[in-house]
Amino acid sequence: MRKPIIAGNWKMNKTAAEAKELICALAPKVKNATCDVVVCVPFTDIALAAELTKGTNIEVGAQNIAWADSGAFTGEISAAMLKEAGATYVIIGHSERRQYFGETDKTVNARLTQALKNGLKPIVCVGEMLAEREGGKTETVCRTQVVGAFEGISAEDAAKVVIAYEPVWAIGTGKTATDEQANETIGYIRSVVKELYGERIAEGMRIQYGGSMNAKNVEGLMAQTQIDGGLIGGASLKSEDFAYIVNAAK
Ligand code: 13P
Repeated sequence: MRKPIIAGNWKMNKTAAEAKELICALAPKVKNATCDVVVCVPFTDIALAAELTKGTNIEVGAQNIAWADSGAFTGEISAAMLKEAGATYVIIGHSERRQYFGETDKTVNARLTQALKNGLKPIVCVGEMLAEREGGKTETVCRTQVVGAFEGISAEDAAKVVIAYEPVWAIGTGKTATDEQANETIGYIRSVVKELYGERIAEGMRIQYGGSMNAKNVEGLMAQTQIDGGLIGGASLKSEDFAYIVNAAK
């Protein structure tokens, strides 16, 4: 049995003061959750979020990680910095980073390697663009991204990774993949993991769905056999909505 994981990706939202308000409202609402609960906050909110979630069942994640230990990498944040600030998870390869900040399968792989080396729990994002889905390329794109991300990663390390399948056309658009579409593609991604690492790792790996997941569609998505949770953008910015999703993920 895979334990579901619901993670909020706040993206570039919430100042420290706003983060405090959201976390304080959220914590009591999710305290009886049976899934893992994570909030991936902006870098500037990590230390505060870690402090505020002490003694709760909420873990804190970052939204990116540098691939180097330290040095002349202006604007980057290292694994050691994230850990000391209190992050335990990190999102890697989100489609917004691929689209707007030049992230490639190669840099995703380098960041993933660095996260694993430093004991951070990675959430690796993969997913196709609308034209790729319409062109029948969904599986090829997901395969290339998964194979690229896991290049040179041992089976022991691979077992610590969460994958988030996020079809780019469903992000922030209100267009969710249907339950069946999401389940089918996640099942395909699991088959790629099986090719790379075998049945045991593939069956144990948690693969989330992300893309306009909300309080209205969470039950349908979570009822699918392949879907082990969600990576939630917009709906993670309101405590009621996010708590509803967390409590529906059993
Ligand atoms: P939305 O839930 O806002 O569509 O965002 C999904 C996402 O990109 C999470 O990483």
